[in-house]
Amino acid sequence: MAADTYLELVNSGFTKQLAKKLGLPRPAKLRRTDPRHVDRPLAAGPVVVLGEGSDADALANALLDWDVDVRRHVTIGTKVGAIVVVLTDIVDPVQASQRVLATAGMLRDLVPSGRVISVSRSVGEGDPPAVAAARAGVDGLVRSLGKELRAGATANGVVLEDGVAIDGVSVLGAIRFFLSARSAYVDGQLLAVGDGGRAPADWTRPLEGQVAVVTGAARGIGAAIARVLHRDGATVIGVDMPASGESLSTVMNEVSGVALQLDITADDAAFRIMELARSRFGRLDLVVHNAGITRDKLLANMTPERWDSVIAVNIAAQLTMNEAFMAAEGLSPDGLHLVSLASTSGIAGNRGQTNYAFSKAGVIGATQALGRELAPSGGTANAVAPGFIETDMTASIPPVTRQVARRLSSLQQGGLPVDVAEAIAFLASPQAGGVNGQVLRVCGQNMVGR
Ligand code: NAI
Repeated sequence: MAADTYLELVNSGFTKQLAKKLGLPRPAKLRRTDPRHVDRPLAAGPVVVLGEGSDADALANALLDWDVDVRRHVTIGTKVGAIVVVLTDIVDPVQASQRVLATAGMLRDLVPSGRVISVSRSVGEGDPPAVAAARAGVDGLVRSLGKELRAGATANGVVLEDGVAIDGVSVLGAIRFFLSARSAYVDGQLLAVGDGGRAPADWTRPLEGQVAVVTGAARGIGAAIARVLHRDGATVIGVDMPASGESLSTVMNEVSGVALQLDITADDAAFRIMELARSRFGRLDLVVHNAGITRDKLLANMTPERWDSVIAVNIAAQLTMNEAFMAAEGLSPDGLHLVSLASTSGIAGNRGQTNYAFSKAGVIGATQALGRELAPSGGTANAVAPGFIETDMTASIPPVTRQVARRLSSLQQGGLPVDVAEAIAFLASPQAGGVNGQVLRVCGQNMVGR
């Protein structure tokens, strides 16, 4: 993994002042999770809940149950950790004014790595134009605000699907994720939340008692996923290629997990995973399809080997495995939860990556279909689309391109593997049971794509 020396320079001594004078981009050091003290404190400072209706009251009350300093009003100059602006009752665009401008008045008091979180309703099929306009408008508001905030602060939105109560478990789960340091590199995103979900007995160990498989767990993002799932209470089975056996063992020893050396494209891959899960733990609750490869070439120069290997590893293998996992009797008593790694390349396209983008856009399509299939049994399927993440995969990008790629996001830096892992752990958790078929970008609001 290549260090971002520019980020270090603009955050220390003389070079910090110089960068300020020259008007250079000054990416902030983000507030990230500490594996030893998860979510303590949850928010970076007082949380102001803005809104007048019963929804705002209900939400403020629900947040009081956590270790959060909830306020309904603050005087100018009071430092604020997060602003939660409740817009669920807005049925005409002109009604948004007061709350949006109240938010505006507090932005200068937002602490570094502060949060602005909108809570709104999704546009329904029968909505009159004014209601649809008010609800859809939140999308543009959040995405634009994300681009304006500085010092590591982010803007994200929780969008309630039809009939979902504001204090529903998954709504609270999503708000908690966005408030916390777990969402450090998620910016400018709106997450649709439906009914369902279960409050964990311990919000800091939501995956207690669950068994998870992580493919590609020997290094990079996969190793970070294994660590975060373990911290959140899961037992982890880590899968990687035999050639990566040594590093896989190191990671699995660290998380008291089980290493399984396996090429996921092998015909018996699902069988071997299920056999291990059943014999050792009697269950399999969660599968994270993280293993992935790139074989970049312009399409004009594409070879069958490059095209086929990327499709085989990045999408075909997980489709085959999912079929087997979903057909297994009694293996996932509380429903199977799948989380797959997509990519912003699969959303916006990327030169030289037709094969990779085809596979990753395919992951998104499959996720939506799988979400529908799993819902009746209480399962979910979601995807995470990382932008530029500092790993061995991106360390092989030429230096200048790499520097540019890092700065091309609202947070003006690359993400870390742990940022992606935190989003995956959230989507896999019981408090996210109402989030299904969704794609959550972990990209610092990359300028590429939506
Ligand atoms: P990486 O190359 O550092 O690690 C991938 C791991 O998967 C390796 O340990 C490798 O041995 C394993 N693997 C590859 N083929 C396998 C197979 N057939 N069977 C079993 N294991 C296999 O990659 P990184 O950066 O950690 O990426 C992880 C995932 O995140 C991939 O799906 C990637 O496409 C995705 N992603 C990464 C981004 C980044 O910026 N690093 C951006 C967007 C998506």
